[in-house]
This record gives sequence, structure tokens and C-alpha cells, in this order.
Amino acid sequence: MNTPTLETERLILRKFTRQDMEALYLILKDEEVNKFLPWYPVKNIEETEKFYEERYALKYTQPQGYAYAICLKEDNFPIGYIKVDMEEHHDFGYGLRKEFWHRGIVTEAGKAVVEQVKKDGLPYITATHDRNNPRSGNVMKKVGMKYCYSYEEQWQPKDFLVIFRMYQLNFNDNTDFVYKKYWDESDNHFVEIL
Ligand SMILES: CC(C)(COP(=O)(O)OP(=O)(O)OC[C@H]1O[C@@H](n2cnc3c(N)ncnc32)[C@H](O)[C@@H]1OP(=O)(O)O)[C@@H](O)C(=O)NCCC(=O)NCCS
Repeated sequence: MNTPTLETERLILRKFTRQDMEALYLILKDEEVNKFLPWYPVKNIEETEKFYEERYALKYTQPQGYAYAICLKEDNFPIGYIKVDMEEHHDFGYGLRKEFWHRGIVTEAGKAVVEQVKKDGLPYITATHDRNNPRSGNVMKKVGMKYCYSYEEQWQPKDFLVIFRMYQLNFNDNTDFVYKKYWDESDNHFVEIL
């Protein structure tokens, strides 16, 4: 099943649709919200539509996936997004319009998505955040993920050096398993005392 709709106390998590381009534009145009993400802020609706086609519509054609719009129940209007990828890393990621920060919205959404992927049998999720973006690490911790290691990467497409912290949550009995691909691919990797 792909992106099954979820409800939490305050939120509806559902697929983005072609009717959501204005909402997605408001999320993707903000410089600060998109600073730590692997793309540049969009400049107009046309770029938003392209983003939607490449990063949502295509995913929704797959048999399984988790690429959610985060909406408040009162208006079902997307104010952010949250996803878990189906590639081997099962990367967990999110972003929220600035006006909605500091209310626990992404943590609430994250807990529901984590529960769903666990129920659907994913073995684990991983997530990485720039060391200079600790708010993102706080969300990872609050959904139950554990810090595993840090690594340096010449990050693309923005092309600067980043130290990422890698978090993981295992859902199967292999509780010690650590996804090592980022570690193996980086010459500079280490474990921080956090
Ligand atoms: C990362 C990001 C989603 C975190 O947003 P956030 O609002 O801090 O996330 P949370 O949902 O965990 O909310 C936590 C805050 O809400 C507060 N809060 C209020 N009510 C709450 C509740 N019911 N439950 C939990 N927290 C609550 C917490 O105290 C905390 O406050 P603080 O910001 O003063 O520390 C946001 O900063 C963002 O969109 N950043 C840009 C995109 C990005 O960097 N994505 C990650 C890339 S790796």
C-alpha cells in the first residue's frame, strides 16, 4: 500500500495531490525551511509542479511508499511533509513551514509514520541531519531513534562539506544492526559523545 492516510490527534497525513501546488509552494519556497535539504528553494508554481511530479507522483506509482503531506485536521491543507523511503536506507525525513514550528507537529506526525512502517514490516529506518541543524535531531530522538555515528560528506547539490549525524530505529529482533553505508562511503567518520 502506498502512503495510506493516517490520523493523529491534531493531524491528517495523506498523499499530496495536484490540487496542493499552492500549499507545496509555500513549504518549498522558504529559504530557512529548505536550508538543510538537498534542493534549492523553488521560485514559482512551475518549479513546484516539477518537484511534485519527480518526488511525489512518481513515488505514488510504486506498490509501497510513504510520502505524506502533513495537514491540520481543521482545514486538511498541507503545511509540511514527512516521508520514509523504500530504498535500502529507508531514510526518514520531514519539513514544516516555519509558522508551525515549536508545536510538536512533526513529532506527532513522525510517531504515526513510524508506527505505520513498523506495522507494514519495514526492518528499520535511518535518518541523517547536519550537525548544525539540531532541531532535526530532536525529532529523531523523540520518535525513538538512536544516534549511531557521524560522517563527513561533500554534500550535493549545494556542494559544501557537512558533518551528518546518523540515527536509526530497528523494528526487527536484530536490535544491534547499524546501517553502515554512510560510514563506509566516508573517509572521515567517527562516533561523537552526545
Ligand atoms: C526539523 C523541524 C521539522 C522541527 O520542527 P519542530 O517544530 O521543532 O518539531 P517538533 O514537532 O518536534 O516540535 C518540537 C517543539 O514543539 C514544542 N511542543 C509544543 N507542543 C508539543 C507537543 N504537544 N508535543 C511535542 N512537542 C511540543 C516542543 O517543546 C518543542 O519546542 P522548541 O521548538 O521550543 O524546542 C523544523 O525545524 C523544520 O521544518 N526544519 C527545516 C527542515 C529540516 O531541516 N528538515 C530536516 C532535514 S534533516
